[in-house]
Amino acid sequence: MQKLIFTNEVGQALAGLVGELNPAGVFFLADSNTRPIAESLNAFGAKVIEIPAGDENKNLQTLASVWEVLSTSGATRRSLLVNVGGGMVTDLGGFAAASFKRGIRFINVATTLLGAVDAAVGGKTGVNFLHFKNEIGAFAPADAVIISTRYFSTLPAEELRSGFAEMLKHGLISSGETYRRLLAFDIADADLEALLPLLEENVKVKEHIVEIDPREQGIRKALNLGHTAGHAFESLAMERRRPIPHGFAVAHGLLVEMVLSNLLLGFPSAELHAVAALLREAYAMEPVRCGDYDALIELMRHDKKNSSRGVINFTLLNRPGDPVIDSTADEDTIRAALDIYRELLGQ
Ligand SMILES: NC(=O)c1ccc[n+]([C@@H]2O[C@H](COP(=O)([O-])OP(=O)(O)OC[C@H]3O[C@@H](n4cnc5c(N)ncnc54)[C@H](O)[C@@H]3O)[C@@H](O)[C@H]2O)c1
Ligand SMILES: [Zn+2]
Repeated sequence: MQKLIFTNEVGQALAGLVGELNPAGVFFLADSNTRPIAESLNAFGAKVIEIPAGDENKNLQTLASVWEVLSTSGATRRSLLVNVGGGMVTDLGGFAAASFKRGIRFINVATTLLGAVDAAVGGKTGVNFLHFKNEIGAFAPADAVIISTRYFSTLPAEELRSGFAEMLKHGLISSGETYRRLLAFDIADADLEALLPLLEENVKVKEHIVEIDPREQGIRKALNLGHTAGHAFESLAMERRRPIPHGFAVAHGLLVEMVLSNLLLGFPSAELHAVAALLREAYAMEPVRCGDYDALIELMRHDKKNSSRGVINFTLLNRPGDPVIDSTADEDTIRAALDIYRELLGQ
């Protein structure tokens, strides 16, 4: 299983890990924005491989360029790759390591909140292919993941809020207390030292679920909370050429699915108001209109998480900390939920 290290003393943690793993050689992978961080951690005289930043570069061509440097620089099966970056770098670097010479060891150093809370942990690696996100990849857990909040100070505020939405999701599926601690945290003016223990608690929620169900056959589906409606918001924004950060779509998806949970399972309505207030404050998004409902429902129907045609699957909640996977809702209920969601946001 992956070793998770939560610390703001990243250099020291990395030196310790490299000492333990005792590789034949070390390579760093970073993108154009995270390269300075990788350089600052390179106490090993290692080669730093730089790839272009941006999800559009999480592709086969970039992957091949990483394999090429590893090959021509004499990497062996006993080499170690240290991925320093957000989800783009850890997804691509994880897969590069999992496939090079049938698999070499790798460490992820997460430098974005989304990476720390989601992408760097859990063992899913891969690249985009054709028009499909994460079409080619492998389940390949890192040997270790270092999670720190020290690099978040240079992240755009929007990126920080985007990652925080996934933290809220983990809170909602794990326990009422965790979720309330997050609601009390001011992400718009984040204290990064205070965020580290919250992040530790949060990542452990994902780690625990992944440990029980690594291949998403059961409880791991709880991690899809907020993502059926969220992906629909994200895709609609993309189709309209006004893309929104993934976490913003998830934050709004969470509220829609909490409303659905209220309608179908009696999820407490008081919780809806707290999340609506947070969305109004930190996750402003173009308002949804009645005319968007058909398109949104069509997008939900095509979500790859649906198991049979025409049925829309959700993870819902009885209450915070009590998720119900494999739930479904019919079209009328989804329309009613969207009405209430808009009312809650004052739209
Ligand atoms: N494997 C999984 O389970 C999983 C889960 C969620 C998301 N993902 C993947 O993660 C990716 C999204 O992750 P992301 O949001 O971290 O994207 P990203 O890695 O593209 O990072 C976003 C931007 O921030 C820059 N950046 C990174 N660290 C920085 C820092 N400390 N300061 C300033 N800028 C910095 C990056 O260079 C990039 O331009 C997607 O490819 C998605 O598919 C994977
Ligand atoms: Zn997500």
